[in-house]
Amino acid sequence: MTNVVSGSALDDRDGVIWLDGRFVPWRDARLHVLTHGLHYGGSVFEGERVYDGHVFKLAEHTRRLHESAGELGYRLPFTEAELMDATLEVVRRQGIGDGYVRPVAWRGSEHIGVAGGNAAVHVAIATWEWPHVFSAEAKERGIRLGTSRWRRPSPDTAPVRAKAASLYNICTLARDEAHRFGYDDALLLDYRGQIAEATGANLFLVVGETLHTPVPDCFLAGITRTTVLDLAGDLGIPVVERHVRPEELGAFDECFLTGTAYEIQPVRSIDQYEYRTGKTTTAVMEAYGRLVHQVLA
Ligand SMILES: Cc1ncc(COP(=O)(O)O)c(C=O)c1O
Repeated sequence: MTNVVSGSALDDRDGVIWLDGRFVPWRDARLHVLTHGLHYGGSVFEGERVYDGHVFKLAEHTRRLHESAGELGYRLPFTEAELMDATLEVVRRQGIGDGYVRPVAWRGSEHIGVAGGNAAVHVAIATWEWPHVFSAEAKERGIRLGTSRWRRPSPDTAPVRAKAASLYNICTLARDEAHRFGYDDALLLDYRGQIAEATGANLFLVVGETLHTPVPDCFLAGITRTTVLDLAGDLGIPVVERHVRPEELGAFDECFLTGTAYEIQPVRSIDQYEYRTGKTTTAVMEAYGRLVHQVLA
């Protein structure tokens, strides 16, 4: 049972949100318009997935939130243990079975200059029922990606290791553009013209029975990506981490995306190239499905 009304605006729901150490009524979790994080895009966040009432890879996500804040030059005023306790408690209070958790941190309104100054750092954790990004049909048949004109920036122009809101401008632009062209999502190249990732997920390509995945040297090395690398080891599936050029896309048999929200999402085409949901993708999907439920038992 949940006390969250699904489908209503995100600021107009029942329940509680954890904000700076307190559980506040959902509708009261508000910011001032002169918040530093709003003006300069300095917030960092996480996306976590709840299965059977348990948060999958909670420790990894909480550590990454801390590290992302560090990449942006600030420290969170709560320890990882405190944030994990808060997450578990907000999930419990909201009665979430299968859902999503969104922790977010930002600099507050004590200071509006570009420098971080002495603005206080705030943290919130919200959770709601949100079991699937794509439809069951898309999960079965795969989604269609179009290569975007937007690119992942180089590590010396943006804090590429952080899960930072500022980096999601590109994702929103690319995703909206992909939808306008009739695709489900966009494939982003990096600043060198190599294949990087989708707008909210990492990419794996399969040739024969071998997985190939781009080296995450200028984009998020996803927690799901690491999980898949471990699962591939367990399943005896060879993996090559390397730079992949777009000209190679026609040489692969299968393709899938990995992410906390996307889970293991088959891709049926990228531009003119078509892929099937073959043996390797299916084996990874099944193993991931077993893991997310079994780990929690
Ligand atoms: C841009 C981007 N890349 C990759 C990922 C996959 O990361 P994870 O597996 O940690 O969810 C995400 C998801 O948060 C993302 O937003």
